[in-house]
Amino acid sequence: MEEQILLRTLGLSKNFGDVKALDGVSLDIKRGEIQGLIGENGSGKSTISSIIFGIHKASAGSMELSRTLYSPKSPMEARQNGISMIVQEKDTIDMLSVAENIFLGDEKEFKKGPFVDTAKMNAEAKKALSDIGIKDIDVTEPVYRFSFETRKLIEIAKALYYKPELIIIDETTTALSQDGRMKIYEIMRKQKEANKAVLFISHDLPELMETCDCLTILRDGSFVKKIEKSDFSENEIKKSMVGRTVSENLYRNDFEGRMTDKVAVCMENVKTDLLDNINLNLYEGEILGIGGLSGSGMHELGRVFAGLDRCNEGEVKVYGEKLKDLAQALRLKIGYISKDRDTETLFLAESIKDNLTISAWNILKRGFLILPGDEKKFAEKQIEELKIKCSSGNQLVRELSGGNKQKVSFGKLIGNGSRIMILDSPTRGVDVGVKTTMYELINNLKHEGHAIVIISEELPELIGMCDRILILKDGAISKEFERKPDLKETDIINYLI
Ligand SMILES: Nc1ncnc2c1ncn2[C@@H]1O[C@H](COP(=O)(O)OP(=O)(O)OP(=O)(O)O)[C@@H](O)[C@H]1O
Ligand SMILES: [Mg+2]
Repeated sequence: MEEQILLRTLGLSKNFGDVKALDGVSLDIKRGEIQGLIGENGSGKSTISSIIFGIHKASAGSMELSRTLYSPKSPMEARQNGISMIVQEKDTIDMLSVAENIFLGDEKEFKKGPFVDTAKMNAEAKKALSDIGIKDIDVTEPVYRFSFETRKLIEIAKALYYKPELIIIDETTTALSQDGRMKIYEIMRKQKEANKAVLFISHDLPELMETCDCLTILRDGSFVKKIEKSDFSENEIKKSMVGRTVSENLYRNDFEGRMTDKVAVCMENVKTDLLDNINLNLYEGEILGIGGLSGSGMHELGRVFAGLDRCNEGEVKVYGEKLKDLAQALRLKIGYISKDRDTETLFLAESIKDNLTISAWNILKRGFLILPGDEKKFAEKQIEELKIKCSSGNQLVRELSGGNKQKVSFGKLIGNGSRIMILDSPTRGVDVGVKTTMYELINNLKHEGHAIVIISEELPELIGMCDRILILKDGAISKEFERKPDLKETDIINYLI
């Protein structure tokens, strides 16, 4: 039924220099539909979304919105046409207030003579947030004061404020905890009920199969196929995405437990503003999982391990030495990947090679020298192993797709010779093909005797990879699980909530 089609793309292509990011993609998004979009890292999902939302201009092809020609020159114009997008990367400006971020570019709506009516703007911002169930945020505070997740929720409120006909959600759910995800699913359901539309991008296949009416698969910038819900099959989808059969089991399959009894990190009665009396040991040759809901303190615990947050009471000992700050953590060879990779882990304006090698100097140096040839070889090995999709090691990290950035931040850490590795959401936004490689690398590091922490919102990942799992609730450890073959998500969930 032609009249049901809200948005249609016709042969959309996009080149970035020599890179063909999108190659003649035609797709239809219908009213009353939640359409999933899936494909490997760098397959063009964010590129096509950005063209629909007016961030990029297509190199070729056209679009129709409700059967009229549509070619937005800016996100503002897209919003005026009823299209909103929650982008994959951070989309707030640190120093501006919550309200200013929500209405960035639209301040004229609140003009009173030459001035902006801030009281009115703040009141509207409050309303936008409360519409998605968030009531406890001071909208006059600058956004940098808020957690990564809260900043994402602010972006969601902004996207919905304009009551879009089509909302594009680009790889947002893996940045959110269970609560945040529930908000997104609720938003999608309401869009559908109101006969509006959603384009939903995620690497979480079970999530896509559950929430979407149909799935479009991209590979290397090209359209592969569209599958209706009644024909969903996990293996078929993976195969069409990657172009080959992907092994069914992503995770390690041994149950051998930790390799040593040598304590690498010991926390005793640790208290911070968000953590309450944490006692734990992390051993060499162990993968320790940390799980919990938003607000449980799991990410803060990662920061304590990394020397970024101080204890109010109690202490953290690393090989018996009291951990005081970040400089000391680096000296003690503690490596950390933050969930907020763009701000805390990567140098976006630098090349892939520089990002990968900057922390690997102690592996690469010969005497006082690092030879450029060694650097290049080292970077090339990582690029190949992690399948980082790029034109060369000299490409700037900022130009990479989201999942490929995540691979760089992972590669940066494993290359830096850390003995202790704190991985917060290490596979966030990474496609299933490469996830397997990452898990293998993590397991190899364990066998080499590294002490590893995986912090994750995803229980299957914790169950699949960890020797032990600590569940955090309200800042305290609510339960510890040992690795075993019959451990299930349902066993754990009761201790989360
Ligand atoms: N500004 C840019 N300059 C150069 N290349 C770019 C730029 N933006 C995107 N690309 C390239 O275009 C290709 C498609 O990227 P895109 O971001 O659309 O992938 P994606 O499917 O969203 O991947 P992911 O799942 O990792 O988010 C990638 O190879 C990427 O490196
Ligand atoms: Mg993307």
